[in-house]
Amino acid sequence: MCGIVGIVGHTPVAPLIVDALKRLEYRGYDSAGVATIEHGELARRRAEGKLVNLERRLKDEPLDGLIGIGHTRWATHGVPNETNAHPHFSNGVAIVHNGIIENFAELRQELIADGYTFSSQTDTEVVAHLIARELAAGAEPVAAAHNALKRLQGAFALAIMFKSDEDLIVGARNGPPLAVGHGEGEMFLGSDAIALAPFTNSITYLEDGDWAVIRRNEISIFDMDGNRVDRKRQQSLGTSFMVDKGNHRHFMEKEIHEQPEVISHTLAHYLDFANGRSKPLDLPFDFAKLDRLAISACGTAYLSGLVGKYWFERFARLPVDIDIASEFRYREMPLSKDSAAIFISQSGETADTLASLRYCRKEGLPIGAIVNVRESTIARESDVTLPTLAGPEIGVASTKAFTCQLSVLAALAIRAAEARGTISAEEEKLLVRQLAEAPRFATQVLKLDQQIEKVARELAHYKHVLYLGRDTNYPLAMEGALKLKEISYIHAEGYAAGELKHGPIALIDENMPVIVIAPHDRIFEKTVSNMQEVAARGGKIILITDRKGAAAASIDTMETIVLPDVPEIIAPIIYALPIQMLAYFTAVFMGTDVDQPRNLAKSVTVE
Ligand code: M6R
Repeated sequence: MCGIVGIVGHTPVAPLIVDALKRLEYRGYDSAGVATIEHGELARRRAEGKLVNLERRLKDEPLDGLIGIGHTRWATHGVPNETNAHPHFSNGVAIVHNGIIENFAELRQELIADGYTFSSQTDTEVVAHLIARELAAGAEPVAAAHNALKRLQGAFALAIMFKSDEDLIVGARNGPPLAVGHGEGEMFLGSDAIALAPFTNSITYLEDGDWAVIRRNEISIFDMDGNRVDRKRQQSLGTSFMVDKGNHRHFMEKEIHEQPEVISHTLAHYLDFANGRSKPLDLPFDFAKLDRLAISACGTAYLSGLVGKYWFERFARLPVDIDIASEFRYREMPLSKDSAAIFISQSGETADTLASLRYCRKEGLPIGAIVNVRESTIARESDVTLPTLAGPEIGVASTKAFTCQLSVLAALAIRAAEARGTISAEEEKLLVRQLAEAPRFATQVLKLDQQIEKVARELAHYKHVLYLGRDTNYPLAMEGALKLKEISYIHAEGYAAGELKHGPIALIDENMPVIVIAPHDRIFEKTVSNMQEVAARGGKIILITDRKGAAAASIDTMETIVLPDVPEIIAPIIYALPIQMLAYFTAVFMGTDVDQPRNLAKSVTVE
């Protein structure tokens, strides 16, 4: 989950590396560092915390080398401080690493016994020492790197630089992504194409087990046995401009406001609004012949899949097994030959989701991936990519990617229903027409910002919050709780409203507000009963409902947020907005780092 960069250039590379690291800061922001070769010696600058600290450091003590590697860190082994920040050095070797070296404890003991001393608590430092030991035994730099790589177990993307060769960076990939960028008399290495976008759009993605020898005028790629391999060079779609906040305070706020537009783009990709049909898709399976669908994802993407389950089962009568990817990958779930698998991921790089995909691949299932980053590993390893057209999502809290994932899932469920004959042409037309209304309603909901900000000001005084919902509002309750806890650090839980009396009701008192997500749907009355139970115990209710619901619920609330009356199929998309806004404003009142909350990273490429 760290970001790595390497440049073999012809002008001082440190400023270019920092520029690339800014694009990778979504991967981690605990500390950062750059190393170059200055007058034949390795030199580095490192700083704890955000990249701005490293920039300050470099301003005071610039680096001028023409070759360099850089890193932005999300700590796994060792606290986030300057000593643990990358690059790590050992006797003329500099290294940056993303991932986890699983056998590092054993290697560390071996290296200590050989007289190597460790200056950090990281797993990465063992790699630097392993390579240095190979050099000391007489190996050339490239062979030394290759020999050391063969000793490593676990997940890694590495960039390695040698003080003895100012025209060489070795890159290696086993798990986390790594891309090589081709230039004219200069070459690049980075965690993704976006990091390299200002320098080149001619990219080669390394595959698992690949390692690359990168020189100013040549790139050679090898497999672990040392055989040269051919990897496709492709034009990247990576955007070369730095995505900015526009006139918004935070990326999260901007991304919340982009939703009407990106939902509209995403829906239009899958639905033929003019004819009221879902568009044909080139799928590796036939919905009509499936007996089950397996969906797997993490975090917010998982919760979108959970909403999708309701839709596939309701509209297409297609049973769905949905799992959190970190559970799915080890569960050894028996998969029927007539199933297909769908993986959902904004980044397309989430390690657990990717591992689950590979499990299904091994089991012979056809695979679809709903991803936002079209060049990601998950996209490349699936049989069909089902893109969300959300554009780059920078805020760690997922907002527009979530509603775009919902948009794709709704369209797919309609496609499945049509293929399975579980809805008529008239019903399909109606559902498509209803979905077409989502952007308009989303725009209306954004106008409730003042009321939601007022509620958030109140919410910021509490330590615990409970979210309740039924049916598709149950995953939304969990999404509301996830959003609130990750950016405001207020403890929050999301529950199926019907579960209240099976435990959580014991928590209800005047110190725990209960946010109830309840459009006036066919089970509204049931949720009202749950609200009565809360009210009877002195609980404070914040009700998010529609006009009909507000009129029908004769209950005292702390606040009622009234949304427009919307068709049932778009309710999860529309109700996602107030819960995102509530979390956002609460975090702003709490004074937290909204876009880069503590301990988190945007892309989780380690287990
Ligand atoms: O990139 P992915 O969609 O695979 O990421 C999955 C989760 O890490 C992500 O949704 C996470 O839960 C968000 N920070 C939630 O806002």
